[in-house]
Amino acid sequence: MRTLSQDIKKQEGKEVELFGWVNSRRDHGKLIFIDLRDRTGITQIVFSPINKELHSQAEKLHSEWVIRVRGMVKKRPPRMENPKITSGRYEVSANFLEVLAEAKNPPFALETNGLEINEELRMKYRYLDLRRPRLQKNLRTRAKVIKFIRDFLSEKEFIEVETPILSKSTPEGARDYLVPCRLEPGKFYALPQSPQQYKQLLMVAGLEHYFQIARCFRDEDTRGDRQPEFTQLDLEMSFASQEEILNLVEELYAAIIKKLFPEKKISKKPFPRLTYKEAREKYGSDKPDLRQNKNDPDELAFAFIVDFPMFEWKEQEKRWDAVHHPFTLPQVKDKKDLLARFKKNPSAILAYQYDFVLNGYEIGGGSIRIYKPELLQAVFEIMGNKPKEIKEKFGHLLEAFKYGVPPHGGIAGGLDRFIAILQNEPNIREVIAFPKTGDGRDLLMEAPAQVNPSQLKELHLKISDHKIK
Ligand code: AMO
Repeated sequence: MRTLSQDIKKQEGKEVELFGWVNSRRDHGKLIFIDLRDRTGITQIVFSPINKELHSQAEKLHSEWVIRVRGMVKKRPPRMENPKITSGRYEVSANFLEVLAEAKNPPFALETNGLEINEELRMKYRYLDLRRPRLQKNLRTRAKVIKFIRDFLSEKEFIEVETPILSKSTPEGARDYLVPCRLEPGKFYALPQSPQQYKQLLMVAGLEHYFQIARCFRDEDTRGDRQPEFTQLDLEMSFASQEEILNLVEELYAAIIKKLFPEKKISKKPFPRLTYKEAREKYGSDKPDLRQNKNDPDELAFAFIVDFPMFEWKEQEKRWDAVHHPFTLPQVKDKKDLLARFKKNPSAILAYQYDFVLNGYEIGGGSIRIYKPELLQAVFEIMGNKPKEIKEKFGHLLEAFKYGVPPHGGIAGGLDRFIAILQNEPNIREVIAFPKTGDGRDLLMEAPAQVNPSQLKELHLKISDHKIK
């Protein structure tokens, strides 16, 4: 039966079997020491020259070979103890070794934090890069945060629902990724920029409390805190006020910190609520960094920014656009009031829109939604949509809202950003298993890639520019 490194300390005097990677080999006179690494840590294995055959087998071992070892757990001599590892007071005196897989020399060091290594190389060999303890920890922490969220929200009677990936364009402000449809030539699915419309339809469906750990796709320029595909904690609630939604988010995030990051200190509770206007005037930013001491890696300054303007002028497109998205409820009495105020001063209309910020990053955003079809129609029109376009793009939602829609609202938190901040990582790529490079490529899989001409033919597609490689 397999014993893990973390359990060696309970096995003194017993024979154990270990599986893992050779982390390092040191030859000390006649003794050979192997640090064997498994998912729980490192165990020192000793090969003595008494068993000649075994010793010569061990002499061949190299870093990153995968092995199986059996031996007796013994206490190390006191001056040989290593307090840095959990099994550090013990070692395993080997009596059996099997090499399960040999390994080429890794193209870079795995025991450093990796930030000194060329990133393209790290991405190409991501499966090796992920062996380094820092990234192992990031992925484990990420999994713990997600599990905590699932437990917390399920406890509060939220239902986790998966919404489609093959869908139709949603207006979150970025370019869509398109997927050609084989069965309907010339038509395309769009990958969702967020589950926004589906979650609103789930409110019409009567779920009342929805959440999802949702993958979102946005074809926009990648930055340190932006990936073309990223993960949201997406949630939506019926019959809830803005304050109730913010309170729930605050309770959840404070509970995550308390349980999983007890060493961190939240600067202020309740999380401060600033209006957009206050934030801009006082801090010159709608995502102010409210930490008292910006050099303290364990300080967390959460805040909500509320009362964003509803519309902004898009100079390039010469039209008014929704600051968040068109489903956001403007702070008006009704359609008539909206149109009158729009005529007077469009940028003075505020919305029930809020952002969630942490240490100067936007880690979430949401709003109370318009649920009156005529008000929604008016917002679409203000944004420059012709009635025919409205029907094509949003007809399904307007139709759904005719069948008894509850007032609703929600929020989506950027999980990659949140976890990167908690792990003190400079970039969200460090907390994503297989991220894309700055120019949107997956260097490991070599995606995007050309496809077979027969695939294009099947999809009725032709590459028009013969210069494209
Ligand atoms: P929004 O577009 O503000 O809202 O997105 C919510 C949060 O998602 C994170 N985020 C990103 N993280 C990494 N890479 C990206 N490219 C990226 N884009 C956004 C941010 C952001 O605050 N449907 C609405 C939510 C709602 O109204 O309920 C939405 O998606 O942390």
